[in-house]
Amino acid sequence: MEDLKRLKDEFDLEAGKIDTLRSLNDLRVKYLGKKGIITELLKGLSKIPREQRPDRGRQLNEIKKYIEKEIKRLHEKVSAEETKKKIQSEAIDITLPGRFIPPGKVHPVNRVLSEIVDIFVSMGFAVEEGPEVEHDYYNFEALNIPKDHPAREMQDTFYVKAPNKPSSSSHIDSDIVLRTHTSPVQIRGMKKRKPPLKFIAPGKVYRCDADVSHTPMFHQVEGLMVGEDITFSDLKGVLEVFIHRMFGPSTPVRFRPSYFPFTEPSAEVDIGCILCGGEGCRVCKGTGWLEVLGAGMVHPKVFEAVGYDTERYTGFAFGMGVERLTMLKYRIDDIRLFYENDVRFLSQF
Ligand code: DAH
Repeated sequence: MEDLKRLKDEFDLEAGKIDTLRSLNDLRVKYLGKKGIITELLKGLSKIPREQRPDRGRQLNEIKKYIEKEIKRLHEKVSAEETKKKIQSEAIDITLPGRFIPPGKVHPVNRVLSEIVDIFVSMGFAVEEGPEVEHDYYNFEALNIPKDHPAREMQDTFYVKAPNKPSSSSHIDSDIVLRTHTSPVQIRGMKKRKPPLKFIAPGKVYRCDADVSHTPMFHQVEGLMVGEDITFSDLKGVLEVFIHRMFGPSTPVRFRPSYFPFTEPSAEVDIGCILCGGEGCRVCKGTGWLEVLGAGMVHPKVFEAVGYDTERYTGFAFGMGVERLTMLKYRIDDIRLFYENDVRFLSQF
């Protein structure tokens, strides 16, 4: 009797300290396991005097039931506590502000370049590409630019020294240049195709020049359309559509006679100054007009260079500077801002 009372007290004491499922299991094994205290005591029943057995057996069973009940109760309690602790320790504070990851942006020049390409592609123009390191022949000769043309002078053209030439030979003798315009792609495109054709040629060009409106590298888009009945009216129509899509449908457009060696007649295209609306300001130098394009009817000498029948075919060509158009569109007054990589400037677009 006495020993069982002590056993129960001892169990109660130990049970009071249980705070994990693991220690609870140890407790269960200690009392109820195969070699547990209660199990051993029950086995021991056979060794006590017969007349004491029923009483002792009953008491042992009572205490066993009590322990089983307690363990079941503790199991429920401790597992509820453990679940609660787990939920608390794994909780996410959804009220914390997220870390800001600044999004990337398309460079303003590339943005306008894509816009230009999209407009011409929508009018059925293909897109051609040519090399940035170009032969004198494509960059000048085939475009009817004579040897004494000012564009060939050293301050304009980057000459590339040919690796197979003797080291004493000057780079001025080189017939390899960084293309100074996208017009050589006209020649390459015409040699590759047969009329009728129409394509644009966007890309980088290089000139030995640097100030608020010139950088040594900039972008141009060339355009060319050749067929049997292509006239100056086609040129005007295509460029007017382009300008109205680019700068808005009510933008005034004017064609002014000009000169380019590879077109005849040649024109420069102006739009009404988008800053002053034609009143005259610093940007349009008081004229109310801004030059945005060079254009003209393809010179017969250019057709001869690519072997096209000059009696049968006519065509128009045009060329524009992407940085210049971007500056006008976004009212930027210094071209160098495009290439300084200042995120404060670039993130505005
Ligand atoms: N190549 C000229 C330049 O770089 C631009 C140009 C003018 C291209 C008239 C043309 C054209 O195709 O017809 O300034």
